[in-house]
Amino acid sequence: EESTLPAKNIILVGFMGSGKSTIGRELGKLLSYPLIDTDSQIEELERLSVADIFSLKGEPHFRNCETQIVENLIEQGLTHHIIATGGGLPVKEENRPLLRKLGYVVWLDANTDTILERTSRTNTRPLLQTENPRKTIEEMLERRNSIYQDVAHLRLQTSGLNIAETAHGILESA
Ligand code: S3P
Repeated sequence: EESTLPAKNIILVGFMGSGKSTIGRELGKLLSYPLIDTDSQIEELERLSVADIFSLKGEPHFRNCETQIVENLIEQGLTHHIIATGGGLPVKEENRPLLRKLGYVVWLDANTDTILERTSRTNTRPLLQTENPRKTIEEMLERRNSIYQDVAHLRLQTSGLNIAETAHGILESA
């Protein structure tokens, strides 16, 4: 039978803790596509953790690195890859058409409780190191949901779905 695997790349976007890395790994296994993580690429490029980049070089520098990474990925003409993005990557408007050019963009949508639960397990996310992370998440979601909606080819509600269910939900529509 003819292969029906998506020829282009699958790009995962969504808020911190929406499961982009986890679902990326699962999809990578199911499709035998390599996984690229933009945060990890920036950490390699800068030889610093995301938290250290934010504190030592500032968020604007991090955002410039994100755009550079996406441009590099397009120049490479990649196909058959899974790309997990940092949650703020689509916020810069110029990055959105680049992401859509790179592949099939999937928004992993998750609610505040899910995000809070997943992100409170680590303190690797400088933007959530606040007095009241729940409020921070709610305010950021309020601003960002329309951005994710704008960039995505597919929106998938993931709260209540397990890893396998989410991955199969993507493959059914990709
Ligand atoms: C950010 C999300 C993080 C990381 C950085 C900023 C954001 O990635 O890029 O801390 O602005 O939403 P994850 O979505 O992988 O946590």
